[in-house]
Amino acid sequence: MNSFQFHNPTRIVFGSGEVDKVGELTAGFGRNVLLVYGGGSIKSTGLYDRVMNKLQAAGLVVHELSGIEPNPRLSTVKKGIEIARINSVDFILAVGGGSVIDASKAIAAGVPYKGDVWDFFTNKARIAEALPLGTVLTLAATGSEMNGNTVISNWEEKLKRGSGSPLVYPKFSILDPTLTYTVPANQTVYGSVDIMSHVFEQYFSLTPNTPLQERFCESILLTVIENVEAALADPENAAARANLMWCGTMALNGGQISLGMANDWASHGIEHEISAIYDIPHGAGLAIVFPNWMRYVYRERPDRFAQFAERVWQIPRNGRSDEELAEAGIAATRAFFSRIGAPASLADYDIKDDQLDRMASEAVRYGTIGSFKKLGEEDVRAILEACL
Ligand code: NZQ
Ligand code: ZN
Repeated sequence: MNSFQFHNPTRIVFGSGEVDKVGELTAGFGRNVLLVYGGGSIKSTGLYDRVMNKLQAAGLVVHELSGIEPNPRLSTVKKGIEIARINSVDFILAVGGGSVIDASKAIAAGVPYKGDVWDFFTNKARIAEALPLGTVLTLAATGSEMNGNTVISNWEEKLKRGSGSPLVYPKFSILDPTLTYTVPANQTVYGSVDIMSHVFEQYFSLTPNTPLQERFCESILLTVIENVEAALADPENAAARANLMWCGTMALNGGQISLGMANDWASHGIEHEISAIYDIPHGAGLAIVFPNWMRYVYRERPDRFAQFAERVWQIPRNGRSDEELAEAGIAATRAFFSRIGAPASLADYDIKDDQLDRMASEAVRYGTIGSFKKLGEEDVRAILEACL
């Protein structure tokens, strides 16, 4: 186990009906609020009215930015920065999934910054100041509600980039699982794959002596596997929705489950290159990339993959070698993704091989990616080819 420090400042307010605390929580930080939301789900579900009533009852002035896209776009972030500046907004409230939260973080950092907010995503500048923000989460997936990351798409240039800072951790996040009852089946699947993928990025590590961290990871994987089909069978299954929501937050909240471990993140890097160009849902891209990454790298440490097969997929050893068990675990992962209805190959999105070179070179623009196995351009291209 390596040395580590951990500090997570986000207050979590979890439970059925807790969304009704949004007025009092927001009033603790600001008076002049920018409410940020997506393409309309919060209006059709009635959540918009519910939040607005509470904000107004708390005496807050509310400005709005709607229409945050899945894979949120830089142009929309810039619109939000302008609205916030014109109205001297002092707090940002994100109501939605990871895209809405990520866009809100970029706006929060962009408002006090004199340059182009995209600088934060191209390593030209670091976030030095940000407006405070809070979130009402409506989809279990990214963990953005309790971390300092933001991922934005520059659609004109077909680039998708991440940035991060302790300054954009939400002040609070309301996790009311009943708000996820309306999440459609496909988004429930993509969100669950994203949660599992966040765990994979941390679990498949070369760092020795991390038994507790490994069990944290395995417990989240097992819990997602146990609950996703129940949520698909009955979207209003309260227990399943609550468990998925908490798994999503715990899987990526500043690295709590893998403190002291080297993380990988190569599959995320590769997926972001795919969704930058083809605008596919992040979790769908991960369902395609991850099993192929696993096959490409497992020989670096077959024992970890064998442990994954035994403890997560409960595949008995029965005299098999680590390599054989590893292969069985990867096959079980693929089979599970396909059973819940996740895509298996880029062909499912009609994506052909014409952009593989660009995606591979962009993925390694700052050098090799990954730590479980360091991947160069040729490696990334080989994984992408396996995804076709
Ligand atoms: O836009 P609306 O109308 O709200 O609809 C959304 C959207 O179409 C819908 N939805 C959300 N909550 C709903 C709902 N529909 C019905 N009922 C509800 N309660 O779901 C669709 C997808 O939403 P989105 O926010 O895009 O999904 P997700 O939470 O998966 O976020 C994906 C984005 O987060 C980034 C991804 O790259 C992608 O851009 N990520 C952010 C991370 C972070 N900040 O830490 C880490 C992740 O690895 C990821 O990269
Ligand atoms: Zn992810």
